[in-house]
Parts: sequence; structure tokens; C-alpha cells
Amino acid sequence: MTPRDFGVLWAMKLRKGVILAGGMGTRLAPLTQVTNKHLLPIYDKPMILYPIEKMVEAGIEEILLVTGGEFAGDFLKFLGNGMSWGIKRLHYTYQEGHGGIAEALSLARDFSAEEPMIVILGDNIFSAALLPYIKKYEEIGTGAMILLKQVKDAHRFGVACVQGKNIIKIVEKPAKPESNLAVTGIYFYDKRVFEIIDGLSPSARNEFEITDVNNTYIRWAQMRWAKLPGWWTDAGTFESLHRATELVRKVRTRSIPPKKPNGNA
Ligand code: G1P
Repeated sequence: MTPRDFGVLWAMKLRKGVILAGGMGTRLAPLTQVTNKHLLPIYDKPMILYPIEKMVEAGIEEILLVTGGEFAGDFLKFLGNGMSWGIKRLHYTYQEGHGGIAEALSLARDFSAEEPMIVILGDNIFSAALLPYIKKYEEIGTGAMILLKQVKDAHRFGVACVQGKNIIKIVEKPAKPESNLAVTGIYFYDKRVFEIIDGLSPSARNEFEITDVNNTYIRWAQMRWAKLPGWWTDAGTFESLHRATELVRKVRTRSIPPKKPNGNA
């Protein structure tokens, strides 16, 4: 019996986060011949610290890092048990091969132990706090939720077709996007995500696509969405890596208080 069966007010709490930090990073070679893409610098920190900090400040207690490739050991060297970065419990797992984002997420099955989770792609850098969206998802308590962002280059992303409050479908990297709403790499899933992944077939590029997972939740009328405020970028190409650094630099330099005139600091 659950507390709900006893008529007790029971609120779901989102405690677990998954950061997907595998992939070959071929678009960033030769930088990625030195280390994993997610350890490359964004202004003053390795990329991986950005999603970690967002989860930690939002109260996520337990994080699973999914990585892969020949530099996986570099994460352990840098993050250790995670405590110096504020993580209560950090777990690691390793994706063999290049089966895509949904396959990487399937490795989180035991970690999630049927609890809901927030999933972030390790190369997504953004300014907004996650707590309001975690609360929103906790209120809904089931299904999935994605965060959308208006962009100029929608063809590079999963693109959402939205009608009023309803999301109709997501098209992965369309040549002619039907909207300018990119699906960011910030997802909320309940335990049914693993059932969905189990039923997926590989896409034309021979990967298990996260967009196919999301479209299943849409078909089930179990997908919510919200717009992500502030700025957001991925960092998987030279252009976007540079843009991420510029955006973070702007924030850092803005947060230094300006000198008062007459030298009276
Ligand atoms: C992935 C997803 C895509 C999403 C993007 C966000 O694409 O497949 O739907 O919009 O992340 O960063 P990737 O850039 O890994 O090819």
C-alpha cells in the first residue's frame, strides 16, 4: 500500500538526475582527441560542471553520469566522488559503442529504481534555474516534460510543433523546421521511459533517438512542456562551444560590481 491508499497527502519528490556525457565528439576533433567533449573548457570551467551545478543548486541529491569512449577515466580523475562539487552521491556508468542518447539513458534503469528523474545532455549550457521546473514536474507527478527554446537555427535540433497548449510532435533535425522551438537537452521522465526505450528501433543514423522516446510520450498524451527563459546553447560544435564561452563570460563579467566614479570603490 502507498501512503495515497491511506488518504495521506503524498507529494512526489524528484531526487535523481542523470547527465549524459558520452559520444565521440567528432565535430570537435582534434580537441576531442585530448579528452572527452564534456571536459573541454567553457570560459573558466570544464563543461560538465555546468549541468552538475544546475542540478546541485536545484536540490538534486543523487547524480548518475553516463559516459563512454577512451577518456571516461578523466571524469573520475576530475570529479572523484563528487563531494567537492556539492554532489551527495555521484554514480558513474559506461556506454559501450555509439547507440545514441536513448541507449545511454537506458543505462540509468537500475539507478532510477522506478523513481522519476531529470536528464540533462552534458553539452547544454543555460542560465535559468531548474527548481521551478522541478516543482512543476513534481506537481504533475507522472509522464514526461521537456523544455523548449526559441532559436534561429532550429534545423540543428529536435523541433517541436506546438498548437496552443498541446505539443503535437517533435521532428529531429528537420531540413525545413515547422517552428523555431528547439527541444533542449533538459528532460523529465517517469519510470515508463525504460519501457519506451525497450520498444525503440534504431533510426536512419543507427542510433536510439531521444526524440522517438519523447514522441511516444506525446502519443500517450503524457508530455508537458514549458519554455526555458534566459539563454541556452549546446556546445557540440566549434561555433556553439565558442558561443557558450561568450555567454558565460558575459554573466561573469556582469556580476563584478562596477567601479564607482572618483575611485571610491
Ligand atoms: C540532441 C537531440 C536533439 C536536441 C539536442 C539539444 O541532439 O537529439 O533533439 O534538440 O540534443 O542539445 P544532438 O545535438 O546531440 O545531435
